[in-house]
Amino acid sequence: MHSHILPKNLPRFADKFGYGDFIHLQHREDGAADMMKGDTFFRTIQPNCWDEDLRIEEYKQFDTQVQVVCTIPVMFSYWAKPQDCLDLSMFLNDHLAQLVEEKPKEYVALGTVPMQDADCAIKELQRLKAMGVPGIQIGSNINDLNLDEERFFPIFKACEELDLAIMIHPWNMMGMESMRKYWLPWLVGMPAETSRAACSLIFGGVLERLPNLRVCFSHAGGSFFGTLGRIEHGFNCRPDLVAIDNPHNPRNYVGKFWVDCITHDAKALQYILDHQGSKRVCLGSDYPFPLGDLEIGKFIEDGDFDAQTVEDIFCNSTLEWLQLDKERYF
Ligand code: CO
Repeated sequence: MHSHILPKNLPRFADKFGYGDFIHLQHREDGAADMMKGDTFFRTIQPNCWDEDLRIEEYKQFDTQVQVVCTIPVMFSYWAKPQDCLDLSMFLNDHLAQLVEEKPKEYVALGTVPMQDADCAIKELQRLKAMGVPGIQIGSNINDLNLDEERFFPIFKACEELDLAIMIHPWNMMGMESMRKYWLPWLVGMPAETSRAACSLIFGGVLERLPNLRVCFSHAGGSFFGTLGRIEHGFNCRPDLVAIDNPHNPRNYVGKFWVDCITHDAKALQYILDHQGSKRVCLGSDYPFPLGDLEIGKFIEDGDFDAQTVEDIFCNSTLEWLQLDKERYF
């Protein structure tokens, strides 16, 4: 689970809607493509970002058959007018659903929805459900609002009711402006963003109110587990600041949500497993981006984990998180 894909060609949404820095692709002669945010260069992507057959070949090298794919967070476009974001989301979701229809043994899709508007988001959740998509990917914040804001609750409630899983991906990183050097938004901001999302959902009582919501946090929960002792201590020593919306200890929620295994470090992964148990840690790759685990689980195979733990991470946890039937992939 946790890999990113785009359609090879994107419409010029800025022309279609008449405003905004919507992402578009400029394909180059060398086969790569430049992602452009309006007129600003964002990043170069390679054909494995859109070529579904190439992706299957590359995954095969690491004995991995199935990819759970979702869009690249910069495509979320939560800043756009809700109806336009819904249009864009539908375009991306149709591409994902079609991919799964064509290659059902190799691909599972997570959709995207306009989180800035609950009505539009729920409309698309219902459509995704009807298309057989098992979940969605959302950002760690929505236009800088935290996920416990009441306006998002109907969306989470709809996900629980529709039995759709949620993957939370860091993006729109806090402190971006003040730490441009050394790739710090990705190395420092992203783990903090994921912990921000986890703490918001816990302290805001969202996970308490929706006990059947199946949430998975990217990058092994970001900095959440590394600072869990501090988070719990803060809850205990200053309940007047921390426990205002949910009286339960944050540690109660550990092992109830899922995380991926992208730690690049077997010892860090063991620490996560000690908290979460092997049934709540999924094999993530972040493929095809360089910060991902591009040898897809090799550090786990090389590590000192028992066979059951490895099997849980490599397939059982994701199957349970997305409520998928293992037989479907034989
Ligand atoms: Co990712």
